[in-house]
Amino acid sequence: MASIYTSTPFSPEEIAALQKPDPQAAYAEMMKTCPVHRGPDGTITLMRMEDIVAVARRPDVLGTGAHGPTMGGARKLIPLDLDGPEHMKYRRLLDPLFSGKRAAALEPVVRELANELIDAFIDKKEADLSPAFCQALPSQIFLRQMGLPAKDLAMFVEFKNVILGHLPPMPLPERMAKIRAASARCYEYLGAALDERIARPTDDLLGQLLVAEVDGEKLTREQILDIGYLMVIAGLDTVVASLACAIARLARMPELRRRLTANPSLWGGAVDEFLRFESPAQRSFRTATQDLQIGGETIPAGTTFFIAWASANLDETAFENPLTFNPERKPNAHVAFGSGFHRCLGVQLARMELRVALEELHKRIPDYAFKPGHELAFIGMPRTVNGLPLQWR
Ligand code: HEM
Repeated sequence: MASIYTSTPFSPEEIAALQKPDPQAAYAEMMKTCPVHRGPDGTITLMRMEDIVAVARRPDVLGTGAHGPTMGGARKLIPLDLDGPEHMKYRRLLDPLFSGKRAAALEPVVRELANELIDAFIDKKEADLSPAFCQALPSQIFLRQMGLPAKDLAMFVEFKNVILGHLPPMPLPERMAKIRAASARCYEYLGAALDERIARPTDDLLGQLLVAEVDGEKLTREQILDIGYLMVIAGLDTVVASLACAIARLARMPELRRRLTANPSLWGGAVDEFLRFESPAQRSFRTATQDLQIGGETIPAGTTFFIAWASANLDETAFENPLTFNPERKPNAHVAFGSGFHRCLGVQLARMELRVALEELHKRIPDYAFKPGHELAFIGMPRTVNGLPLQWR
């Protein structure tokens, strides 16, 4: 296996099954038959909850940065690509900036923006909610948090799409060149925004990172940019994809939609169940620094392998009736936000944005359906839909 990016963890038949609108049974079956799954080129993917949670907490298993920077970054992304005490040092600094309290303070802004976006399409009785709502809402909230102008939205979406490889098919070197160029432009843009804040301090996230201290020392310019760059990638696409997956399911399950609309207090729990059931961030990868004994097999030291959050979320040893969507599931200890050292920094923010978006949308448009003729398909990493052309009365 040359690189984890060019590896083939699943066969073409398995990929076809996992890209279907309802891949849950296929995942569950693969987990049962091959808990330590091997792809056509030998790439290993851990499928079971127990194994994945254990590996994500082992200090001798490295995260995504084991082979250098990820996602086109010039340097390792902070904190995702770091491990050990260095990683923890940054989490101590960043965790308070993404607390539940901070997310709650942002809730009225999200609610207001959700309604502004709905105002723009509600009277048309139809719209593609993918760009108009799912993309627009988290992206605009992100720009506000970072203190960046809303007019730069299209540029940010472009950066993020190229960096995450949402590109038409092309040879790998060309693809990598495009990703590196977009990454350089994104760094340049964030650098200019940082310079403005050095000249005129602000209270937005970039401004807060400028004054934040870690072990008594301020962050360097490069460290702030490495954090900001990861926010663009981690914070934008995941919420966009999760919201789109949730609305697509609700469009296909009118009974569920009616139940939730009639009992709005269920939206909070439903958000976690959407995350468990759809697992938009399907998998991550890790590197063993020592031999690992898992499921009766040895994963040799030095191996880079995948951990499939999506299949762990369907593990019957962790969830009762895992193939049933149950918005009232309690407890719901899913790993859609990851697990262990690198568990998502944006959990509270993401949960709040998803809940408020779904609450406001369904208050105003409770009944909708896909436009006739739309063939729903699931694409990409994170997993999302090929559009949400919906209509309502
Ligand atoms: C529903 C939306 C989201 C999902 C499903 C999601 C999922 C994940 C997952 C699975 C990981 C673990 C990656 C790994 O272990 O390799 C992760 C890490 C991370 N996420 Fe999220 N995420 C979401 C939203 C956000 C948001 C809004 C932010 C913005 C702050 C964010 C920032 C991060 C960061 C910084 C990390 C790295 C944490 C670390 O390495 O310590 N995420 N996310």
